[in-house]
Amino acid sequence: MTSFSKIIGTGSYLPPRRVTNQDLTAQLAQQGIETSDEWIVSRSGISARHYAEDGVLSSDLAVEAAKRALEMAGLQPDDIDLIILATSTPDFLGGFPSTACVVQRKLGITNNCAAFDVQAVCSGFVYALSIADSFIKSGAHRKVLIIGAEVFSRILDFTDRGTCVLFGDGAGAVVLSESAEPGILASKMHADGSHADILCVAGTVSKGGLAGSGFLYMDGPAVFKLAVSVLDKVAHEALDSAGMQASEVDWLIPHQANIRIMHSTAKKLGMPLEKMVVTVDQHGNTSAASIPLALDLAVRDGRVKKGQAVMMEGVGGGFTWGAVLARM
Ligand code: UT7
Repeated sequence: MTSFSKIIGTGSYLPPRRVTNQDLTAQLAQQGIETSDEWIVSRSGISARHYAEDGVLSSDLAVEAAKRALEMAGLQPDDIDLIILATSTPDFLGGFPSTACVVQRKLGITNNCAAFDVQAVCSGFVYALSIADSFIKSGAHRKVLIIGAEVFSRILDFTDRGTCVLFGDGAGAVVLSESAEPGILASKMHADGSHADILCVAGTVSKGGLAGSGFLYMDGPAVFKLAVSVLDKVAHEALDSAGMQASEVDWLIPHQANIRIMHSTAKKLGMPLEKMVVTVDQHGNTSAASIPLALDLAVRDGRVKKGQAVMMEGVGGGFTWGAVLARM
C-alpha cells in the first residue's frame, strides 16, 4: 500500500512573445490609455509578461510543459493514469470538453486514463495538487500529471489599465507519483464564495451567444486585502498539519500576482526574502500556471534541491486559497 505521493518531475512553457512594460505602455498610449513602467513596477513588481499568439490555446502551452515534466520524471505519456488540469481559460467555452481531455489527446495517451479540469482560478494548481495527493494516497491512482495552463491575454480588457498590465500566459506541470518516501507533507484548501464578485469574468452563454462581459474584472484593492489576510494563515495550517515550523521551509513559492503581497506573506511567516522564488517580474500573473512555472524554474536552475521543503500557496478568484507543503 502506497503511503506517500511525491513530485518526480517538473516542466513549464512560456509562449515566445515577450511583452515588456515599455511595449505595453506604448501600445496603450496609442489607445489613449495612460500607464507607465514606473506605476506597473512599483504597484505590482511586474516588468514583462508573455502572450500566446492568436490560435494558441491553453492545451498547447500545457502539452509543452507536460512533455518537459514527463521527460524529467523519466516517464512516457502512457505511464500517466490521471490528468488534472487547472485553468480559467479552457480551450472550449465552459471547459466542455475539458482541456485535460484535449491534452490527453495531444500527448497521444491511449490508456483511457481519467482526465478533468479544476476551476479554482489562481488557486487552481494548489487545488489540483491537493486532489492528486489524495487520489494517490487512497490508492486510486499512481502517476498523476498536474498542469496549470492559462491564456489570460484572451480575457483582458485592454481599455482597463487596472487589470490589463498585470496578467500573462504560460503553463507549468508536475508529475506526482506514488512513493515510499514522503513528498506532499500537507495540503489545505479554502474558499469563500461571498467574495465571488471581486474577481470574475461576469459573463455567461445564452442562446449561443455571450450574455454579459467576457473580460476579467478585478477590484484590485479588495483582492489585495483578502490575499494578504489569508496567505500566512493557510501556510501555518499546512505547517501545523505537518508538525513543522516556518523556519524549516527551504523555499516559499507563492502565487505570483503582486510582489507586495508576496513580500507581506514572507514577512508574516518570518521567512527571509532570499527563500522566496519570484517570477512575477518576468511572467506577470499567469493565474493557475504561476506556481508550477516558478517551481520548475527554481528546480531547473538548481535552487530547489532534492530533500528540501517547499511551501506553495495559491490565492484567487472564488474567493479561493490554499497551500501545499512538499518535500522534494
Ligand atoms: O491573481 C489573483 C490575485 N490577484 C491579486 O492578488 C491582485 C491584487 N491586487 C493588486 O495587486 C493591486 O490592487 C493592483 C496592482 C491591482 C493595484 O494596486 P493598488 O495599489 O491597489 O492601486 P489602486 O487600484 O488603488 O489604484 C491606485 C491608482 C488609481 O488612481 P487614483 O484613483 O488614485 O487617482 C488608479 O486609477 O492607480 C491608478 N491606476 C493606474 N495608473 C497607471 C490603476 N492602474 C493603473 C495603471 N497605470 N496601469
